[in-house]
Amino acid sequence: MCDTGQHDHASGFGFLVDVPEIRELIAETHRVIEQLPANEDRVEALRPAFQKLLAADGWLPPDCASPDDRSKMGGGIGQYALYRAKDGSLCLFSLVVPVGAETPVHDHLAWGVVGVYRGAQDETVYRRLDDGNDSTRASLEVSKRQTLARGECYTLLPPTDDIHFVKTVSDVPSISIHLLANDTACIWRHRFDPVHGIVTPFRSGYANAPCPPETKTRSEDADGRSI
Ligand SMILES: [Fe+2]
Repeated sequence: MCDTGQHDHASGFGFLVDVPEIRELIAETHRVIEQLPANEDRVEALRPAFQKLLAADGWLPPDCASPDDRSKMGGGIGQYALYRAKDGSLCLFSLVVPVGAETPVHDHLAWGVVGVYRGAQDETVYRRLDDGNDSTRASLEVSKRQTLARGECYTLLPPTDDIHFVKTVSDVPSISIHLLANDTACIWRHRFDPVHGIVTPFRSGYANAPCPPETKTRSEDADGRSI
């Protein structure tokens, strides 16, 4: 189990992986949030601390760096919580995508920084052409494609460039590290079918931590554990 830290074991919040490298990044994130009111300034200010984490070796436990055989969405994609703020305002997680596998097209609904720690990923970003008023439909076109190698990162500033998918293009599983201003795997966000224009609500879930109980019943739950 990817769980080596000091945290609330009942809820899975706090430092699930308690190492100095993660504590340093989270402390810097709180400092930046306190000092900078604009999200576009925050993500840029966080790049140096985030890239320092990407460049460091030895802090990510093997259990948080392995494909997830229980991934219900298939492909063995694993999403492991490393830090979760109890108020849902911040999380850090690893995403392991096996060789040749790709995530669904999805959104994030929060600002953040994402970077590659191991292997390489192709990222395809979509631009939304409709007004978003129909929660079941979306008209998407590809706005950007890029390949990211170890140490490279990008920022998320919804709604711009918030819809994408990633595919591992290295001969080893890729591992990306995600710092986002929500509890990404436990909120309801969206999976997109760009060809048919269909939008489906989904909650990806962490492989190593539970999501808080739902306050209302949904017809679809965390069956599609993915990103
Ligand atoms: Fe993503």
